[in-house]
Amino acid sequence: MRSSTLVALLTATSGSAAASVYKRDLAVSEPVYPSPWMNPKAKGWEQAYAQARDFVSQMTLLEKVNLTTGVGWQGEQCVGQTGSVPRLGLRSLCLQDSPLGIRFGDYVSAFSSGQTVAASFDRDLMYRRGQAMGEENKAKGVNVILGPVAGPLGRAPAGGRNWEGFSPDPYLTGIGMAETIKGIQDAGVIACAKHYILNEQEHFRQVPEAQGYGYNITETLSSNIDDKTMHELYLWPFADAVQAGVGSVMCSYQQINNSHGCQNSKTLNGLLKGELGFQGFVMSDWQAQHAGAASAVAGLDMSMPGDTLFNSGYSFWGANLTLAVLNGTVPEYRIDDMAMRIMAAFFLVGMEVDQPPINFDSWSTDTYGPIHYAANEGYQQINWHVDVQGDHGDLIQEIGAKSTVLLKNTGSLPLNKPRFLAVIGEDAGPNPLGPNGCSDRGCNMGTLAMGWGSGTANYPYLVTPLEALNAQAIKDHTRLEAILDNTASSTIEALVKQEGATSLVFVNADSGEGYINVDGNEGDRQNLTLWGNGDELIKNVSSLCNNTIVIIHSVGPTLVGDWYDSENVTAIVWAGLPGQESGNSLKQVLYGEVNPAARTPFTWAATREDYGADVLYEPNNGDKGPQQDYTEGIFIDYRALDSKNITPIFEFGFGLSYTTFEYANIQVEKQSAQDYQPTTGETAEAPTFGNFSTDLEDYAFPSSSFPYIWQYIYPYFNTTSSAKDASMDSEYGQTAEEFLPPGAIDSSAQPLAAAASGPEDLPGGNALLYDILYKVTAEVTNTGSLAGDEIPQLYVSLGGPDDAPVVLRGFDRITIEPGQTVTFTAELTRRDLSNWDVAAQDWLISEYPKTVYVGPSSRKLPLSATLS
Ligand SMILES: *[C@@H]1O[C@H](CO)[C@@H](O)[C@H](O)[C@H]1NC(C)=O
Ligand SMILES: *[C@@H]1O[C@H](CO)[C@@H](O)[C@H](O)[C@H]1NC(C)=O
Ligand SMILES: *[C@@H]1O[C@H](CO)[C@@H](O)[C@H](O)[C@H]1NC(C)=O
Ligand SMILES: *[C@@H]1O[C@H](CO)[C@@H](O)[C@H](O)[C@H]1NC(C)=O
Ligand SMILES: *[C@@H]1O[C@H](CO)[C@@H](O)[C@H](O)[C@H]1NC(C)=O
Ligand SMILES: *[C@@H]1O[C@H](CO)[C@@H](O)[C@H](O)[C@H]1NC(C)=O
Ligand SMILES: *[C@@H]1O[C@H](CO)[C@@H](O)[C@H](O)[C@H]1NC(C)=O
Ligand SMILES: *[C@@H]1O[C@H](CO)[C@@H](O)[C@H](O)[C@H]1NC(C)=O
Ligand SMILES: *[C@@H]1O[C@H](CO)[C@@H](O)[C@H](O)[C@H]1NC(C)=O
Ligand SMILES: *[C@@H]1O[C@H](CO)[C@@H](O)[C@H](O)[C@H]1NC(C)=O
Ligand SMILES: *[C@@H]1O[C@H](CO)[C@@H](O)[C@H](O)[C@H]1NC(C)=O
Repeated sequence: MRSSTLVALLTATSGSAAASVYKRDLAVSEPVYPSPWMNPKAKGWEQAYAQARDFVSQMTLLEKVNLTTGVGWQGEQCVGQTGSVPRLGLRSLCLQDSPLGIRFGDYVSAFSSGQTVAASFDRDLMYRRGQAMGEENKAKGVNVILGPVAGPLGRAPAGGRNWEGFSPDPYLTGIGMAETIKGIQDAGVIACAKHYILNEQEHFRQVPEAQGYGYNITETLSSNIDDKTMHELYLWPFADAVQAGVGSVMCSYQQINNSHGCQNSKTLNGLLKGELGFQGFVMSDWQAQHAGAASAVAGLDMSMPGDTLFNSGYSFWGANLTLAVLNGTVPEYRIDDMAMRIMAAFFLVGMEVDQPPINFDSWSTDTYGPIHYAANEGYQQINWHVDVQGDHGDLIQEIGAKSTVLLKNTGSLPLNKPRFLAVIGEDAGPNPLGPNGCSDRGCNMGTLAMGWGSGTANYPYLVTPLEALNAQAIKDHTRLEAILDNTASSTIEALVKQEGATSLVFVNADSGEGYINVDGNEGDRQNLTLWGNGDELIKNVSSLCNNTIVIIHSVGPTLVGDWYDSENVTAIVWAGLPGQESGNSLKQVLYGEVNPAARTPFTWAATREDYGADVLYEPNNGDKGPQQDYTEGIFIDYRALDSKNITPIFEFGFGLSYTTFEYANIQVEKQSAQDYQPTTGETAEAPTFGNFSTDLEDYAFPSSSFPYIWQYIYPYFNTTSSAKDASMDSEYGQTAEEFLPPGAIDSSAQPLAAAASGPEDLPGGNALLYDILYKVTAEVTNTGSLAGDEIPQLYVSLGGPDDAPVVLRGFDRITIEPGQTVTFTAELTRRDLSNWDVAAQDWLISEYPKTVYVGPSSRKLPLSATLS
């Protein structure tokens, strides 16, 4: 495969045979400087800004640097911790994974994945999930939750971390982001929208990791993208996150147009802080920082975990940042702005300077141990084993049931006191090593209820499908026999072919983060088929049993074409990654205690090729950074299939119920809104807060009595003999003018971009984009005999030759009684109807005729109307 890639590459590289193996004409990222400073009048942030200003004005340079720089990998209890400000009573801030619960915590809940809750299409449920996670983190002493996730968005279905996010549809993901963030922050914890941006695959995201797998590369992957696709697809959900008031954003490992995610001035200064008006702080992903001053002026505000590489003992910031401010490379306003942004996010969510202590430890389950794990120093109590679960198990069960998608049902569901159930497949039962037996869930044994990597939490318990089904069987006097070994084919055959059997076949497909390789899957899935011979298992069972019900736990779509339409496969259920209450949630749906309504948040295509975009598995640029060109533009997932007229097996937004619904009477009401006005005017000059001495001696390591913790990152200098010695930077002495781009340290007032938030607006971009232009209503009737939820969806055709046939722009989840008719209402904003105009660098409603559609899925749209 490597050699064929090389051949393709050489063919693509026009020129002489002696042409190097490197791609030429690499995509480049335009410089955008200076880094925007906070806006005191940004709506929603005024009070937080004032509190931050009062606090930061009292801080010394060393204290400010402390706030911006992590103490190093495993230096303290949390996966990331900043330095502290003891003089002002502020303890170190605790940053903790993960987007579905507290990683490395005990007595914590394991929630469903983001992708699973996305399937509920239920805003309230997304909010409550965020709030419950916020409450648990708050009670453990966490200040920043590293989630939710909109990068990956889900460009390629095999992308290893897609399940941590919501959906390849940016509108659905945007709502998932906003609701989760509001929930987390209402509970008093800062949320972190990650990984910004285009972090769409695991392969080649980090050089050491890739080299560990044997890939000969010296630079990370570059995701190369055009401006229109960036705005209309990948930036969209981050805009929603910013508008929802997210306090922090994590920049990503990989490059964008050959510029690292954590020093890309176009994405950080230009798009995030400039255009979207983001007022919070940007932290690096762990080891994603590759430069000191250059990342500071490109918009990075916090270095995580603080060391250059895990446990190197050195930092691009820390003492280097102190020096860079002293020698003028990083302007004072920039370090002040970093501190302001961090403290403003802190106050925004209602935190007070006197923070309760952190009561858990990420690196040990012992009650007593070293508080500085890397240094093995500071023996004391490190775990208080605080139970923070509350009644979240009930919520997790509700989320699981309301997110379970019924993909096929010829009448075998719901189950009603079945006589004989044959439960088949490893995915129905427990992991013999226990639910947390594999670290960071880095194996696929037993039922799958979360993927692997840093986006995991420890299960407090895991209700397997078999346990829940058994409990029900006992009540119903059902004969239930389970075979959990996928390879026991003769035993399975003998069971399922027996007269009257209803077979429940449990299958799965797993993926996760790139640092763990499970069964040859280096984070990203190596294929889209089921694991453990799942497809063959289904085929074998259904060839012998005419009532075969398939339950899939997976991280995304799998290829079901071989068996989904067999008449013996009477039902297919996608249960996603439901978390700790897995079996209970599923049982409720299978037995009709909860009438399913959830919709698949991604497309189930017949072939992998149908999706268009895919993971890049082999380096394609010699030993330089592999180049991932997003040539498909906005055409991912259903946009890809729709535009190429490819019929999927189950389309985006599809899901069945045990009742039936009919749609009628679409109405469009134009709303009065002012005309769009590009934002004009300019910012104030960059403010500074406080002062500092320029005497090197004032920054020396405090005193011999101050303990030096091994490998710990401090803001101080080890030596004051010379700045060069203190820096330990072999290239020390380059001035800002020499190595930073023009304008990088400019502090003068800056013009606001046309698409940017105005001076007194809510962050999230030009406020007029959120004006409501149309209200669309339709009537939905429950025509069956059972109460149920329906998820009416609104799609828009923007009408242009470069547009997708339809894009999701509205949905609701409504409970409807039998015979009842309800009105579905969706509001269309200006943004919903606009395209990104690259020339104007602004959103624009095109001249092309626009149509709205309403129906139960992206391909069943019985109602339509044109927009005047
Ligand atoms: C990447 O390059 C493309 C093509 O030049 C350009 O349109 C786009 O704005 C660039 N994006 C970034 C983030 O640099
Ligand atoms: C910086 O943070 C470290 C670690 O929390 C702390 O020991 C030190 O006192 C702080 N320095 C200043 C100047 O506040
Ligand atoms: C300062 O940064 C350079 C890289 O730019 C690094 O080599 C050096 O070790 C850092 N110094 C300290 C004290 O961490
Ligand atoms: C200023 O300090 C930074 C960080 O150590 C260093 O990279 C840079 O070369 C220094 N510049 C000058 C002009 O001394
Ligand atoms: C797909 O990957 C899974 C997990 O590694 C593996 O079990 C399965 O055999 C693979 N399928 C095919 C068709 O190679
Ligand atoms: C399917 O059935 C064939 C024929 O009995 C058998 O060889 C094979 O192992 C079975 N596979 C599974 C996964 O049950
Ligand atoms: C369906 O199951 C029956 C056994 O109940 C079997 O005889 C038949 O061949 C199966 N049909 C298919 C298409 O697998
Ligand atoms: C399966 O076959 C049995 C025996 O022929 C029949 O009674 C039953 O109705 C069939 N079930 C389904 C779901 O087709
Ligand atoms: C890695 O790639 C470079 C450039 O193609 C080559 O010079 C070097 O020998 C390769 N190293 C290994 C270990 O394959
Ligand atoms: C900073 O300003 C304060 C108040 O004006 C003053 O007391 C202090 O000496 C100044 N510190 C330095 C290092 O300039
Ligand atoms: C600073 O000095 C301490 C104590 O000698 C040493 O352990 C540490 O490695 C030094 N730090 C750096 C960044 O050189």
